[in-house]
Amino acid sequence: MANSFHIPVLTEEILNYLNLKEGGVYIDCTLGGGGHSKAILEKIYPRGSLIGIDQDMEAIETAKEKLRGYVDKTKFIKGNFQNLVGILSELKIETVSGIVFDLGVSSDQLKKKERGFSFQEDSYLDMRMDLTQEFKADILLNSYSEKDLAEMFEKYGEERFSRRIARLIAVERKKEAITTTRQLADLVVRSLPRTKKRHTWRIHPATRVFQAIRIEVNQELKALEKGLVQAIRALENNGRICVVSYHSLEDRIVKHLFRKVEREGKDQGNYGLKILTKKPIRPSPEEVRDNPKARSAKLRVAEKIIYVT
Ligand SMILES: C[S@@+](CC[C@H](N)C(=O)[O-])C[C@H]1O[C@@H](n2cnc3c(N)ncnc32)[C@H](O)[C@@H]1O
Repeated sequence: MANSFHIPVLTEEILNYLNLKEGGVYIDCTLGGGGHSKAILEKIYPRGSLIGIDQDMEAIETAKEKLRGYVDKTKFIKGNFQNLVGILSELKIETVSGIVFDLGVSSDQLKKKERGFSFQEDSYLDMRMDLTQEFKADILLNSYSEKDLAEMFEKYGEERFSRRIARLIAVERKKEAITTTRQLADLVVRSLPRTKKRHTWRIHPATRVFQAIRIEVNQELKALEKGLVQAIRALENNGRICVVSYHSLEDRIVKHLFRKVEREGKDQGNYGLKILTKKPIRPSPEEVRDNPKARSAKLRVAEKIIYVT
C-alpha cells in the first residue's frame, strides 16, 4: 500500500476551530491521504471516533495505511459526500460533533500520472476522482459541442480565451481524437493570441482549462452544494463545520450557503449557523513556504445553532 505524499493544509487552524470533544464523532468528508483525519484522531482517540469518506478507492487504501493505529475507531467509506445523508443512515448515525471538507484533488492524485489530472507529464486524459465512474475527460473533450466547451472553460476556469480554445479543439478533434494531457495542453497554447504565446508564464496557460474539465468531469460544484447542505443538517447543536477551498468558485458557494443558512435560521427558527470566520482564514507565510500548494487555500468555519428541538 502506498504512503501519502499529501501535506494537509491549515491543520492547526482546523483542529482549533473544530473544538474537539473527547467522545465526539467527527466526519472527514475528503479523507485523501488521511492527514487531517490523523490529526483529529490523535486528539480524540480512543473515546471519540471518525468517519472518513472519499470517492477515490486509492485514497481510502492510502489513508487506511496512515490510520492503521486507529482502525477500531475509524470507519472508511468509499462514497461521494453528496450522499452524506445516505452514508450516515447506513451507519445509523444521526448527528455528529464536527465535519471537515478539504476540497479538490490531493497531491497523491496529481502526482500519479495515469490519473491524468496534470499536464506536467503526458498521460491519458482521465481526471476521474471516482475510478468506477464511466465519464472521463477524453469523452467530454470529444463529445461536448464547441459552444458547451467554451461555456465550461469560461464558467469553471474563468478562462479569457475560452472561445478560441474551444474552436481549436473542435477543429483538431475532427482530424484526431484528443486523448492525452500533452495534446490538450499544446492545443491550449496554440490557440492563444500570438502576443500571449511569447510571454513567460507565471502559471501555465492550460491550468484554467484543466481546472474546468476536472470540475465538470467530477461535477465538483454540484457535489459541494449538496454535501454542505447535508453536512449542516447532520451537525449537533454547537457542532462545527470547517471547509477548505482552493479557488473562488468553491469559496463563493461556501460563503453564500453559510450566509443563507445563518439568515434563514434567524428568520424562521428551527436551526441556523453562526459564522465564525467573517473573513476566510489563510495559511501563514511559513506554511506556504513549506507547502506551496497551500497558497490558495481559504478556510471558512461555522457553528450550528439549534433554536427549536
Ligand atoms: C485535498 S484532498 C484531501 C486531503 C486530506 N485532507 C489529507 O489531509 O490528506 C481531497 C480529497 O477529496 C476527495 N473528494 C473530492 N470530492 C469528493 C466528493 N464529492 N466526495 C468524496 N470525496 C471527494 C478527493 O478524491 C481527494 O482524495
